[in-house]
Amino acid sequence: MLKNLVAQRVNPDVPSALSGLFVNDPDPHAISFAAGSPNERLFPVKEMQRAFNTAIEQQGAHLFQYQSMQGNLNLREKLVARIQKWGHVTTTADNVLVTVGGQQAIELVAKALLDPGDEMVVEVPTYVGALAAFDLYQPTYYSVDLQADGLDLDELEDTLKRHPGIKLLYTVPDYHNPTGITMSVAKRQALVTLANRYDFIILEDSPYRDLGYANLPLPAIKSFDTQDRVIFVSSLSKILMPALRTGWLVADGPILDAILKVRLASDLEANGVIHAAIANYMEENDLDQHVNVLKDHYRQQCTAMVAALENDFPEEVSFTRPKGGFFDWVTLPEELDAAALLSQQVIPQAHINYVPGTNFYPGRDVHNSLRLCFSGLSPAEISAGMGRLGEQVKAAVREVRPVL
Ligand SMILES: Cc1ncc(COP(=O)(O)O)c(C=O)c1O
Repeated sequence: MLKNLVAQRVNPDVPSALSGLFVNDPDPHAISFAAGSPNERLFPVKEMQRAFNTAIEQQGAHLFQYQSMQGNLNLREKLVARIQKWGHVTTTADNVLVTVGGQQAIELVAKALLDPGDEMVVEVPTYVGALAAFDLYQPTYYSVDLQADGLDLDELEDTLKRHPGIKLLYTVPDYHNPTGITMSVAKRQALVTLANRYDFIILEDSPYRDLGYANLPLPAIKSFDTQDRVIFVSSLSKILMPALRTGWLVADGPILDAILKVRLASDLEANGVIHAAIANYMEENDLDQHVNVLKDHYRQQCTAMVAALENDFPEEVSFTRPKGGFFDWVTLPEELDAAALLSQQVIPQAHINYVPGTNFYPGRDVHNSLRLCFSGLSPAEISAGMGRLGEQVKAAVREVRPVL
């Protein structure tokens, strides 16, 4: 059996929790709230085409040469200016690594920091792609609940006292995937204080930070870092285009050195042709103006989804009210299993798709929640789809909680 030759940590009998997550449903009648993709109708295709042409015209053959392990310097300088302006992080281009999406940044951090059995904390629920990356390095997970203003810091401190060996904490502080929750500024600061006191590293993953519908981005957790313990990760996937596969991280000192070492072994460097085009795009266009257009669309889509949750769903169901990003998190009564509901009723009867919540927990032990993504649909499609989903949920709730 060739499968026996696969490394045990890859767990070959279990498919990746990420597989299928970014694919749109082939059923023409389906409305999919599953795919966590940005809305491609909003991609600045012409502007990007011009930026690629400029890169080729300006640099010719040299553009296609090996370039830089850390990524195009011009692009790194532009990213430094953005995170200084919007995240209050003071850093330099030497501390930035451009990666193949934010996903690679997470995976490089996992590879650089985690030995099998190492203890780490994740907020729950958490980004399924981060779990997919961490899982390969076999950590011991501790889960800490999310509150309306982010991580429950009392529960975190309790966990840290009981497990003093914890070395890494992963958090998505801004318009969190999958819940849409944002961590308060006070908690960001307090989290860094805890990291200093209990000697762990914070991996701050923030691809949605620019997409607050009515708010400017909050100071990054990294902006409170006094001991080089915070690794900041972001991405251009959600504010430009995901196929550019361009993410980035900011780190310092020995942590940065370790990440650079594993990056060299992984792929030498990311795609310099694309970096040059993005740098040109950012020179020739106002990225913040583009982001404002996105925010306006996503706000209307989110409003349509929350209105439908309020009007079309039974009161036994609870849900978040995001102020930015792509996602809403729905919690059903405990007796219901969101995966079974999806495959047995929602897809066949209503032609609606969503992501059941189980894979967003490291223990895969919570079954009554689901993630809804509204980014790719118009408000009309959202209202229609949510009406159909609401009918199914109502029927399922009435079965387990009959009205007497
Ligand atoms: C929280 C979070 N982190 C990282 C990523 C990775 O995105 P990308 O690799 O496209 O930058 C995603 C994508 O959905 C995400 O939601």
